[in-house]
Amino acid sequence: MILCLEDFEGAARRRLPRPIYAYFSGGVETNASLADNRRAFSEWGFVPRTLVDVSKRSTSTTLFGETYAAPFGIAPMGLSALATYRGDVVLATGAAKAGIPMIMSGTSLVRLEDVAQAAPKSWFQAYLPGAPERILALVDRIATAGFGTLVLTVDVAVLSSRENNVRAGFSTPLRPSLRLAWDGICAPSWTFGCFLRAIVRDGMPHFENSFAERGAPILSGSVLRDFVARDHLNWSHVELIRKRWKGRLVIKGILSKEDALLSREHGADGVIVSNHGGRQLDGAVSPLRVLPEIAAAVGGSMPVMMDSGIRRGTDVLKALALGADFVFVGRPFLYAAVVEGEAGVVRAADMLATEMSAGMGLLGITSLDELGPHMLRPLK
Ligand code: FNR
Repeated sequence: MILCLEDFEGAARRRLPRPIYAYFSGGVETNASLADNRRAFSEWGFVPRTLVDVSKRSTSTTLFGETYAAPFGIAPMGLSALATYRGDVVLATGAAKAGIPMIMSGTSLVRLEDVAQAAPKSWFQAYLPGAPERILALVDRIATAGFGTLVLTVDVAVLSSRENNVRAGFSTPLRPSLRLAWDGICAPSWTFGCFLRAIVRDGMPHFENSFAERGAPILSGSVLRDFVARDHLNWSHVELIRKRWKGRLVIKGILSKEDALLSREHGADGVIVSNHGGRQLDGAVSPLRVLPEIAAAVGGSMPVMMDSGIRRGTDVLKALALGADFVFVGRPFLYAAVVEGEAGVVRAADMLATEMSAGMGLLGITSLDELGPHMLRPLK
């Protein structure tokens, strides 16, 4: 029975080949940050007010001049097309129907132009290729496609050690092997409904957007060299992009107030406080724990968004009370797409908004503006 966001995970796990599920669900090394992302929310308790007329509650909010049905969106997730056929389009159109934003990942197997066409209000997340001329070519391509918001993810200077991927037989690209074939046989609905369907209809999926031109096919013996060429990127590259990109620029992967201030200094329009869902630096602090100091440093002058570990409407309320203007949710939407496609994405968004609305009523508030740290007490 699927009653909340977390219920999608078990259902998705049963449908997915083991390596793909491991890639979606995993953290890095000891999974310390992954676990702490949930713990951080449980360490705050609400102090509700009673006997307040809460009959007219609204979860809607405005961000970058756009009004959304709820203060959450879908975080960028690479290889979403391994969740369901043309997964990026499914997530984007599902989000559009639910009235929330979706950030398309740069590490995607669907062309960014296709997503921009299917859901024109989607945002785009880029990983930067090394050379300046390739960065600018990518920025121009994103602009020509019609995206209005570009998210630069900056917490992947080097590749993290995803031991769980290795143990489960996952790699990018996927290496053809007997084991992989067996994993596919054990997950027939995925193999026929997602993978073979994509190959029959569109040909072998390729990495389409990380770089200006087409990258490696998803099933291949070769290595994606460009992925490791990010360790020299610095604030001068942000400046380069800021000069070329006329739309909104958001920096994702910030965990310190110093970097939030630098983001603003270098022309960013907003930041996403994130530890990448516990998938990069193992032991990196949970975003919720640093959100108040970052909001104190740059809040009010630019939107402060956050992600990592949000699963419940009350989690969204806690994040907003601690200074977030908006939040993003990752894995649950991917699982919802695995289980029910676009309808699952819409359902997941509705469930989260419904939980939020109930939480607001029980807290004694009718609008998100009323949220603040005075409604929370640390439980530890
Ligand atoms: C991610 N994340 C991510 N972030 C990013 O900026 N670009 C990317 O391509 C990806 N890819 C990706 C794939 C998968 C399978 C996952 C689960 C995550 C991180 C993502 O945007 C977000 O920060 C976290 O997923 C948020 O944490 P939760 O909600 O999944 O706990």
